[in-house]
Amino acid sequence: MEERKKILVTGGAGYIGSHAVVELYQAGFEPVIVDNFVNSQESALDGVAAILEKKIACYRLDCADYNAFRQVFEQEKNIEGVIHFAAYKAVGESVTEPLKYYHNNVGSLVVLLQLMEEYRIPNLVFSSSCTVYGIPDQLPVTEATPVKKAASPYGNTKQICEDILSDLAKSGTGSISTIALRYFNPVGAHISARIGELPLGVPNNLVPFITQTAAGIREKLTVFGNDYDTPDGSNIRDYVHVVDLAKAHVKALDRLMSGANQPLEIYNIGTGQGSSVLEVIETFERVTGQKLNYIIGNRREGDVPEIYASVTKATEELGFKTELSLEDALKSAWNWQCQLQKNQLTA
Ligand code: NAD
Ligand code: WQD
Repeated sequence: MEERKKILVTGGAGYIGSHAVVELYQAGFEPVIVDNFVNSQESALDGVAAILEKKIACYRLDCADYNAFRQVFEQEKNIEGVIHFAAYKAVGESVTEPLKYYHNNVGSLVVLLQLMEEYRIPNLVFSSSCTVYGIPDQLPVTEATPVKKAASPYGNTKQICEDILSDLAKSGTGSISTIALRYFNPVGAHISARIGELPLGVPNNLVPFITQTAAGIREKLTVFGNDYDTPDGSNIRDYVHVVDLAKAHVKALDRLMSGANQPLEIYNIGTGQGSSVLEVIETFERVTGQKLNYIIGNRREGDVPEIYASVTKATEELGFKTELSLEDALKSAWNWQCQLQKNQLTA
């Protein structure tokens, strides 16, 4: 049997990372997780182990800590690639605590790149975000759509990280090839309901807020505005199933390992379809049979009225295609929420 290629997955205990670890292992890779659990719980690793019937190695440490992180590279021989998920992601918190975000999101990438150069690890997949497009002038957004000045320190960290990767690629001295994936809005959970999104405290994002409201943990959902220039007045996003998104990372690694890539490539990962907040609520109610308590409230500062991806480049060059629908995603998110209640895991 061919040996599994070893892939370091920073933030592998997190929402997207845990799903990616499952897909990587099932695609024949050997994922090794690095996570300091600042925004995740050990139970995610139990969920991954239950799905795979195999415990995945995990180092508990801070990727921004060069000395601690270096021990992993010393110990783990033959790492062939890295997927870098580790970052803070709460937009609002980044406005009040910007240094925390620059230190963690930018700092951990710089440390990682230094170590990858030092240990001659050639392949990197980086978690970027559609937030880099700001309020786009044209829809759908392609990878050529201009990046706008970031509206938040969080968004700025993603732009800075992309710039760092670009500078490194242009330097010609770098030995690292990178694919940066600009995720749109990841939603849903693994079909097994063993892993899913586990927001600590009050969720910032729409879907966990919906499932917690339906579960009675939150009293009501507030729709942030219905007076936008969109068909039903609520914001439009491109909600992509987290399992489809996880699989995009396998495709990205395959491309990097085939050598067909340029030193830095960027891909949108979404569905290509926009859905409004009210459509998401209606779909959730329809597929789960749960009535959702919601009100229409004021606009949330900084919200983009409408954004969805063109995924043509990812389809053509990565062979990416979505296999799961918004219905699937919302059903799986609800099953996951029910499982959490059953196990009394705190969200
Ligand atoms: P998450 O918070 O669930 O996962 C991130 C994981 O990284 C957590 O397990 C956390 O404990 C870990 N981590 C954070 N800083 C660390 C550090 N310094 N050292 C070690 N571990 C650290 O977030 P997610 O939703 O899975 O997001 C993963 C990545 O995707 C992030 O880079 C995020 O910015 C990006 N992203 C997320 C979304 C989204 O809506 N979820 C959208 C676009 C981009
Ligand atoms: C989705 C829609 C809200 C909560 C954020 C980050 C972005 C990226 C993805 C990381 C919006 C509406 C939400 C609620 C609501 N993350 N909403 N009531 O804002 O698209 O993007 O996550 O890179 O950078 O900004 O995601 O899930 O917060 O909101 O009406 O209680 O749901 O207004 O239209 P968003 P979200």
